[in-house]
Amino acid sequence: MLPCVQRLQLFVLLSSVLRSCQGQNCPASCQCPDPHTVNCSGRGLARLPDPIPLDVRRLLLSHNWIPGIPSDFLVLYSDLVYLDLRNNSLSRIEPGTLSTSSRLVFLDLGCNNLTEIPSGTFGESRSLIKLRLGSNPSLSMVSKDAFLGLTSLRELELDQNALSGLDVGVLGQLPSLRVVRLEGNPWECNCNFSKLFAWLMENRHKLPTGIQGMECSLPVDGRRVALSQLSEDSFRECQVTLTLTDYFIVIFSGIAVSVAAILTSFFLASTVHCFQRWSKANKTDEEESDA
Ligand SMILES: *[C@@H]1O[C@H](CO)[C@@H](O)[C@H](O)[C@H]1NC(C)=O
Ligand SMILES: *[C@@H]1O[C@H](CO)[C@@H](O)[C@H](O)[C@H]1NC(C)=O
Ligand SMILES: *[C@@H]1O[C@H](CO)[C@@H](O)[C@H](O)[C@H]1NC(C)=O
Ligand SMILES: *[C@@H]1O[C@H](CO)[C@@H](O)[C@H](O)[C@H]1NC(C)=O
Repeated sequence: MLPCVQRLQLFVLLSSVLRSCQGQNCPASCQCPDPHTVNCSGRGLARLPDPIPLDVRRLLLSHNWIPGIPSDFLVLYSDLVYLDLRNNSLSRIEPGTLSTSSRLVFLDLGCNNLTEIPSGTFGESRSLIKLRLGSNPSLSMVSKDAFLGLTSLRELELDQNALSGLDVGVLGQLPSLRVVRLEGNPWECNCNFSKLFAWLMENRHKLPTGIQGMECSLPVDGRRVALSQLSEDSFRECQVTLTLTDYFIVIFSGIAVSVAAILTSFFLASTVHCFQRWSKANKTDEEESDA
């Protein structure tokens, strides 16, 4: 058995060795202010720094030139809670990359070059609370199931992108959503927009800039108007657009109604006729018995 003091010295020695190992683990041009934070923000990096400690929880990579992240990135760094990739050169996210991120709470992919958010991009990222996807000037497509499984997501940024439309189901599948930014997109207020419009009217308290902060272009002349200038009535003609099946239903129900009307009048006519004959016969009987 070591005396108490020696044990203490050993402990101090071991922990300083450990700390210096962690120090060595910090990527060359980055800062590691605490054992779980790696800050490589604004270092002119054209690729991911190396080596990143495996137990990193906060990884700051904003304001660099990073063009992509490998699809097993979050398998490797499974403790990541906070990932900031804002203002890089990401043009696509490999399918499955983010679907294993069960601990990730904050993800910033804003100010990049993303063009679309395909279905299932975020898989089962159930811890994700804030997702920033704004200021991607070529981002024109968000698939219907893009955010499926993000049950904790409270804040979603899709502002300053190239979206002309958005399936309302995309927002409908986020049960915890409190704040959504959609302004600064080239929205088109055609019939496809009518459902989203109805959702926005109902959820206007979730828009930081309100309804008046969002604009869309009119299908007739392309003029841009604030959503606050429109009402559900503006989309009235969208509701009368019938499909072929609707027409068939209308035509056949018309025919059915006419046939029913003909049958009813026929039935009424014959009833009246029978009644007249019956009362006539009765009258003759009465006259005969009177005589
Ligand atoms: C990360 O580093 C940058 C540049 O050195 C600095 O401006 C920023 O405050 C740091 N962020 C954190 C969270 O440490
Ligand atoms: C983006 O990062 C570059 C450096 O990579 C920097 O010069 C520029 O100011 C940043 N842009 C924004 C909007 O932060
Ligand atoms: C974004 O992508 C386009 C092509 O899709 C490319 O021409 C452009 O240089 C990219 N911009 C940045 C900042 O990487
Ligand atoms: C409306 O949405 C459908 C399906 O997403 C698409 O095929 C069609 O082109 C859109 N119409 C307009 C006018 O954008």
